[in-house]
Amino acid sequence: MHGNYFIHTYGCQMNLHESEKVAGVLNSLGYAATADEEKADIIVFNTCCIRDTAEKRALGNIGVTKRLKKQNKNLIIVVLGCMTQQDGVAETIRQKYPYVDIILGTRNIDSLKDALKEKLEDGKKTLFNSFNDDYLVKDEKLPIFRDSFPNAWVNIIYGCNNFCTYCIVPYVRGREISRKQCDVIDEVKKCVDDGFKEITLLGQNVNSYGNDLSDGTSFASLLEQIDKIEGKFRVRFMTSHPKDLTQDVVDIIAGSDKICNNIHLPVQAGSDKVLKDMNRKYTREKYISLVEMIKNKIPNAGITTDIMVGFPTETDEDFLQTVDLVKQCRFSNAFTFVYSPRKGTLAAKMPQLEYSIKQARIMELIKLQNSITKELSNGYKGKTYEILVEDYQPKLDGYICGRTDCGRLVSFKGDKSLIGEFVNVEIQSAKSASLFGKIV
Ligand code: SAH
Ligand code: SF4
Ligand code: F3S
Repeated sequence: MHGNYFIHTYGCQMNLHESEKVAGVLNSLGYAATADEEKADIIVFNTCCIRDTAEKRALGNIGVTKRLKKQNKNLIIVVLGCMTQQDGVAETIRQKYPYVDIILGTRNIDSLKDALKEKLEDGKKTLFNSFNDDYLVKDEKLPIFRDSFPNAWVNIIYGCNNFCTYCIVPYVRGREISRKQCDVIDEVKKCVDDGFKEITLLGQNVNSYGNDLSDGTSFASLLEQIDKIEGKFRVRFMTSHPKDLTQDVVDIIAGSDKICNNIHLPVQAGSDKVLKDMNRKYTREKYISLVEMIKNKIPNAGITTDIMVGFPTETDEDFLQTVDLVKQCRFSNAFTFVYSPRKGTLAAKMPQLEYSIKQARIMELIKLQNSITKELSNGYKGKTYEILVEDYQPKLDGYICGRTDCGRLVSFKGDKSLIGEFVNVEIQSAKSASLFGKIV
């Protein structure tokens, strides 16, 4: 087999990493990546269905390939990822987009090789989206073509058991399965040996790591082991569920040079009633005291969050509680979303709020967080931080950028050859969320 491939990736970091596995499989078969979709022999869509917008974007782009397929009769279209795992969606894609050749579920990347073979040899189409029991065994063997230097993604737990009432993830990603601690450690060591300078541990809820293992390992013990690995590198992780983030994990972060002082802690809402309806299993008070505990133990911690507005039972009063929580917690950044009903989830069956209400709330929330981010940004001025150079600044010629330990992005003048190096940067100016500085 030979030719070029192009991968469209939608959704979260988990999907970004899984596209690296898809690329690994395709490279191992003799294909090469191309930046020009029109020249591809295989086009892959790694889909997301967390919100309606993500789904629409993927379907729109899949539709476009009908034209490409007319130009190139041998073009192979592959659709995989979360969308294909929703009730009935794979079958609908099969009917409405008959030019799609291969459809695989979230736990079937290992089947890509055979599916391609069958397509090339016999013209056979594949639709396979079962939650294999031996998923982990097969997944461990997949080659990975890492594409986010100096960062390396490392999965530690797959799936989710939480069933927040708005969320589709448990349905499309299945129940939690933790990788063995030794497999994770080996992979981290290999990434560090290969020159990666930042390791990001991935899971829908990293704090559940180990719950399904019988060897007593936990997320805290995994972090301790990773912290002991020799070399100069940083460790980040996402996502932490507030109901499961424990003090021992915070203590380990506080005592470690490698594990970044950066915690992504999605709150979703500030009202106890809405949190209960969302099945989040913590209260507003518990969340706020968790944030205070983190700030006490790690004074320069960067705490980021996800917030949703427009959940079906959210009243104006409830929304004001979210606003108030945001003012109290002063997050270094917040990812804000408008609730989008997901078929098959509990919340989708409740009476829904009007679009205009949701829109007004999200605008207010974004405005508030922007003003907080701006105020916090000013506090960085004049200070010097160690930055891991990640990339060049596409918008500013001659500039490169990277992050502080606490996760803030800083841009400064420098050469692309510094990507992957640690440099000290003095912050000189702040423009809302963007910090600018110079190497010292
Ligand atoms: N496992 C992670 C996040 C998964 S999805 C966690 O538990 O936090 C990322 C974010 O998308 C969520 O934090 C939530 O804010 C948002 N999200 C999930 N389902 C959504 C929906 N139906 N509509 C709008 N936003 C949603
Ligand atoms: Fe979705 Fe909740 Fe699981 Fe996160 S913890 S993936 S929001 S069900
Ligand atoms: Fe989307 Fe699936 Fe991630 S639904 S957010 S790609 S787990």
